[in-house]
Amino acid sequence: MAKIARSRRRFLTGIALLGGLGALWRFLVPGRKVRRQTLLEVQKNAIPLRGALVFKRSRVAVIRGEDDVYALSLVCTHLGCTVNVTAENLICPCHGSVFDRAGNVLKGPAERPLPRLTVEERGNKLVVLI
Ligand code: FES
Repeated sequence: MAKIARSRRRFLTGIALLGGLGALWRFLVPGRKVRRQTLLEVQKNAIPLRGALVFKRSRVAVIRGEDDVYALSLVCTHLGCTVNVTAENLICPCHGSVFDRAGNVLKGPAERPLPRLTVEERGNKLVVLI
């Protein structure tokens, strides 16, 4: 009887050890890369210099600066309203937060900048990824 209990104890210890090693492996080895999805595609030449294309449905603005193109989420970081894009800045109609063209907060109540989205060049297109 004692032999069976000892063998069961070894078996359970082995299972616990394997589980612990598995958890350690998952912690130490980076997981699979998360594949990003295409949110929208834009022709490169469709964005005017120092201008922006606004995609209200996707709540994204693709903005061309002096020498770069970037995409900003138009979801206000205060409570989630859709921010309006003007020639100078971005203004939230709900509580009046104002952001500069880079998405930085100029006036609250929002405290965090608008998130930048990843933009990839693919041929003559720009692809905004989420
Ligand atoms: S939701 Fe934009 S300022 Fe409140």
